[in-house]
Parts: sequence; structure tokens; C-alpha cells
Amino acid sequence: MFFTPTGINYQVKLIHESHIKMKTKAKLNPTIFVIFGGTGDLNKRKLAPALYNLFIEGYMPDKFAIIGTGRTEYTDQGYKDALEDAVCAFSRTGKVKEKWDRFGNTLHYCPTDFAAPKTFENLRNTIEKYQQEYGKDTQVIFYLAVAPSFFPIIAESLKKHKLTEDEDNSRIVIEKPFGYDLDSAKELNTLLSTIFTEKQIYRIDHYLGKEAVQNMMAFRFANALFEPLWNRQYIDHVQISVTEQLGVQERGGYYEGAGALRDMIQNHLLQLLCLVGMEAPINFDATEIRNRKVEVLKAVRPFSNNDIRFNTVRGQYSKGWVEGKEVLGYRQEKNVNPESNTETFAAAKFYIDNWRWQGVPFYLRTGKRLNQTSSLIAIQFKDVPHQIFSGNATENWQQNRLIISIQPEMSIRMQVQAKRPGLNMILNPVDMVFDYKGTYKNDSPEAYETLLLDAIMGDQTLFMRGDQVEAAWELVMPILNSWENKKSINFPNYPADSWGPERAEALIARDGFHWFNLPLKEKE
Ligand code: BG6
Repeated sequence: MFFTPTGINYQVKLIHESHIKMKTKAKLNPTIFVIFGGTGDLNKRKLAPALYNLFIEGYMPDKFAIIGTGRTEYTDQGYKDALEDAVCAFSRTGKVKEKWDRFGNTLHYCPTDFAAPKTFENLRNTIEKYQQEYGKDTQVIFYLAVAPSFFPIIAESLKKHKLTEDEDNSRIVIEKPFGYDLDSAKELNTLLSTIFTEKQIYRIDHYLGKEAVQNMMAFRFANALFEPLWNRQYIDHVQISVTEQLGVQERGGYYEGAGALRDMIQNHLLQLLCLVGMEAPINFDATEIRNRKVEVLKAVRPFSNNDIRFNTVRGQYSKGWVEGKEVLGYRQEKNVNPESNTETFAAAKFYIDNWRWQGVPFYLRTGKRLNQTSSLIAIQFKDVPHQIFSGNATENWQQNRLIISIQPEMSIRMQVQAKRPGLNMILNPVDMVFDYKGTYKNDSPEAYETLLLDAIMGDQTLFMRGDQVEAAWELVMPILNSWENKKSINFPNYPADSWGPERAEALIARDGFHWFNLPLKEKE
């Protein structure tokens, strides 16, 4: 069953048009976009392609300049060429088109050594040159795509060079990880608050920019159908699962100090939990929405020692075979300690202690080198109160489930029971599917396109507020401390290309459930 009758398509068209109106007709102030880490991987893979796509689709301000900074020496032309290669390789729209030269002319390179104040003076001079040309409303966005150890020195240098004083026209965008633990996150928040006001600070969690994640709010609060069922009376349990086929690749150095709990659960998965768990906001205002989300984190039951023992699972991959190729175990990856205690898999059972969710388990799991790449939320509803069908009819019985698939498939599936056609009353679970690909012709924007445009427009809805980040750290700290203090004796405990450690299955099976995975699609 597909939800694609004409009426619905018409609605979709209207919504799409009004979305365009909101995003393009707003007169955007001239913008100078400064990227610290302008020669780095994040810029090449995500930021430059996103800015380029915003440009070719007409979303960038009429006047804008992008200043890349880094330690490598580049001429403007050399930098432009390097980013052209990167955009060709990584943009969702494919190789650059004829407009590249116009976009390329907005790119500049300013070598910057964080330890050398002179380089910040050069940067300030370059920024001032554009400000004079573009006028007094010009806004400056500083994007920190660098290792977190550089966040403080950059923020302080910006302050010292008087680049942060205009509250309305200067912003800082900070990549994750925001802090290494609760204390360091608090320290960073405190430091930033001496330099910027909260409305200038944009903490990125790129999951919030994903199309299917943004749709969670629409799905829950623009439909009368689901909200009455969205509580402990009707929902049995919730699963939030982000599994990856890839290993740590070149990022062993970073990952060794992070692990799955810090890298994914503290941010992306807990943000998804907030979107499932939050109360209805009174409007779509950033403060209102962020308030509702932080309330969820504050209501999550803190982990006791017993909870950590029984309701959390950690794992680390060993070598194995993925699509016919042998892959390394985590301990053999580059820049990884051969006796590493870092988890590449984490699962935990959370409870939200409030009226809506009391007693409903939220199972979260994430891991690398698993059998499938997939991000999904599965909401399993309670069973019917009374069974009228006979045993024969219900052999394939399956409680109703709502599956929100974020990637690679973008879809919402409602699994219901239906009568199988035939002379007998035999029931079969079937999926009612809203599939993005089947419903919309256009590609969805990449998460970074949405987030960068929001930063340019000054909309903080999809960014993390300081208290949200701290509340999320507070939740995971007991688990992190316990795992760090008590080394795992059985690592590695799952082979590459598996579903993770056996205990992860046991964690959910104990409660009578099993992890839900979408069937793999044939490669197109
Ligand atoms: C990042 C993590 O935040 O998210 C990575 O640091 C992870 O380890 C990535 O691979 C997953 O993002 P996505 O968008 O590919 O699901």
C-alpha cells in the first residue's frame, strides 16, 4: 500500500512551494562564512558541497564570501581548485556545473596558525574588507570544523581581535564533539558564554538536519491520528537504532578517545529519543522546541550501578568479512591501541520517568562494522486487548509497529494486520508505506545544507542549546565512568558484519522483544 493518491500529492506541492517562499524570499543579509579547518575533511566532504548546492539552488545571500583558513599554504586559485575537486567528488548533485566559476569567485583562503596572533589580524583585515564592500548589515559566521582542542583558542582569539562583539551579526558554529565529558562541556559552555551570547552559538548535531528527522515533528504534531496513541497506554516499547557497516576507517586516533557512547549516543541517538519523547510545543519557536526537548532529557531515569550492569551492553569488533573482503578488527586499525578498551558498539535501555512514558522502555543501540547501515526508530504498539481470531488465523501475528526509517531508506511504515486474500480468514502483517522516493521527485537536501542555511538565517531550532548538551552528558556519564574504570575482559566480542555482541540481543530478548531491522533492499 502506498500513500500516493493525487490529493496527497497536491498537498505536498503546496507545502513545497511555501517552504521555498520561506527560504528564498527572505532577504538574507550579506554573509561572510569563515571556515576554520578549511582544508580539512569535513569541509571537503560536507561543508563546501553544501554551500555550493545552496548557491546553485538560489538559497545563498546575494552577497557572500567564504574564507577558508588552515595551516597549509594556498593561493585563492589553489584553494578554489582543491574545493572544486572536493565538490565534484562529494556533492549529492554530482560534478560541478557551469556556475562553479561564480561560486569559486566567492572563495578565499587565509592561512591561519592558531598560535600566531598575526594570522588572526590578517583574517580580521580580510573580513573588514568584505564588511566595507557589503555594508553594515554584513554578518560573519565562524564555523569551527577543527579538533575540539582548538575550540577555546579560536574563540578567545576571535574575541581578542574584536570579531565577536556584534551580537546580531556574528555567530559561531561548533561541530561535535561538544566536550569530552560533562565537566569539559560545562567548561566550554562557560568559556563561550564569556565571548558570545547563547543566540550567537550554533552547536551542530547533523542528525537534526536530516530530512526524515525533521519530519518527526511534522509527523507527530501535524497529524491528529498518532498523538492520542503516543504514550504508555498504547506503546509497548521504542527502539532507536543507528547501525553502520563501516569501521572507524582513518579516524582511529579520534575514536580511541571517544567510543560509541560518546560518538553517537550522547548526541545523535539521544536527540532522536527527545523527538520521540517530547511533549507538543505550543509553537515552532526555537526556544519552545528546545525547552520541550531538554525536559525529556531531564526526565530520563539516571543509570544506577545495577542499571549499568543489566541494562547496558558494550562491544568491540574483531576482524571479519564484509562483502567478500576481509576487514581488520578494531584493535588492528590505524592509530588504535592493540589492547584498546574503546567500545565500537553500545546499547542501553532507557526509561523516561514522566506521566506519558512511565514504564515504556526505550532501547538504543549503535555500532560500527555491523551487518547493515541503517538508522531507524521502531515504535511497537501494545497488543489488542482481546483476541477474536483463532490460532490458525494468527500464526503470523505481529503487534502494530511504526517504523521511521531515516536512512538509507527514507520512509515511514505502519505495520498492521490484514486479511490475506483467500477463502480462509488468515491474518498477515502488511506495511502501509510513505516512501520519500515514491512520493517526491526531488532529492532531499543534505543535512548540512539545511543546517548551514539555518545558521545563515539565524534559526537555532535545529541546533543544540548549552543546557541540552549538558543534560545529555549528565545522562551518559555514569556509564562512561563505569566502562572506563572497569576494562572489558571479553573485547573484541563481535565479528565484523554481525549484529553486535550476543548480550545486545539478550538485553531486549529478556523483555520479550527483538531488535528490528528493515529487510535489505536489492542494490539498485
Ligand atoms: C558522526 C560520527 O557524528 O556520525 C561518526 O562521529 C558516524 O562516527 C557518523 O559515522 C554517522 O553519521 P551518518 O550521517 O553517516 O549516519
